[in-house]
Amino acid sequence: MARDKKKRGGSAPKSTKEEVKEEVNEEVNEEVENGENGHENGESTPKQATKQKEEENPRSATGVLSSQYLSRDLKLYNFSLTLNGIVLIQDTELEFNWGRRYGLLGLNGTGKSTLLTTLAKREVPIPDHFHIYYLDKEVEASEKTAFDAVVEDLELERAELERESEELAATSGGNESERLYDIYSALDDMEPELAAKRAGEILHGLGFSKEMQTKKTKDFSGGWRMRIALAKALFVKPSMLLLDEPTNHLDLEACVWLEEYLKTYTRILVLISHSQDFLNNVCTNIIHLNAKKMIYYGKL
Ligand SMILES: Nc1ncnc2c1ncn2[C@@H]1O[C@H](COP(=O)(O)OP(=O)(O)OP(=O)(O)O)[C@@H](O)[C@H]1O
Ligand SMILES: [Mg+2]
Repeated sequence: MARDKKKRGGSAPKSTKEEVKEEVNEEVNEEVENGENGHENGESTPKQATKQKEEENPRSATGVLSSQYLSRDLKLYNFSLTLNGIVLIQDTELEFNWGRRYGLLGLNGTGKSTLLTTLAKREVPIPDHFHIYYLDKEVEASEKTAFDAVVEDLELERAELERESEELAATSGGNESERLYDIYSALDDMEPELAAKRAGEILHGLGFSKEMQTKKTKDFSGGWRMRIALAKALFVKPSMLLLDEPTNHLDLEACVWLEEYLKTYTRILVLISHSQDFLNNVCTNIIHLNAKKMIYYGKL
């Protein structure tokens, strides 16, 4: 990543080569004076700062958004991803189109899960309206029932969508109508009766009887709490759903149900699965992560 330019408040722009050279030298000298152990005021040297950053977040991603801000499709070019300084993906194109279901393939350790984390944490420029849901852990063990854990974010999401729709309606232009349509259809889904019915159906599909749906999450094993987390992800219907081996905790019956459910997912789905059959049945497109590049198949 390019080093930030130092702010030099108040100084007039340098006009001659000599003066610029002088300024660069000043900077270098400052660094030498401060030595390897850091700046006097407690700031770290660039080397230390990079190391500290890697410790906090081992990933570093770059990419340039090329789709329009309000588009339902997400496209980035010059996408690269490193983990602990090791390049996993280099200078490739990321393309996720609305209504497509992508199966992400690649050998073990090529960076599939790291890519999903990077997207979920929005470490590259992703427009705010993309609601990304990455299923990476089970729901917390608490007093909440399985059903309540699934629907708990409903009110928050409704408020957020209402705020966004008001904001969009107030601005004029052409592109926002698609986004407004999505918001209104999501708000329809959130009607209390419909929402409760939908949550019940999803839980049932994933193997929860009526009785189990009212059991507290703390009374479920980790595997079952993972199923609740999956139910929650499906219930939310995010614009971008990222699933990493979702069938790992499921029995055959629940796998079959999930396959049928995902087949009808009309937003963007990115799915990692070791099951070729599952991928074939669910996905419209395949992305092969190979030799640090993303190769797309079945692109329309
Ligand atoms: N927390 C971590 N710290 C250091 N290295 C890691 C960490 N997580 C993953 N790695 C390494 O980063 C690389 C990419 O890992 P990642 O889990 O993204 O690959 P993957 O394609 O999902 O693999 P798999 O198919 O086994 O799930 C691997 O070489 C892995 O060993
Ligand atoms: Mg993985």
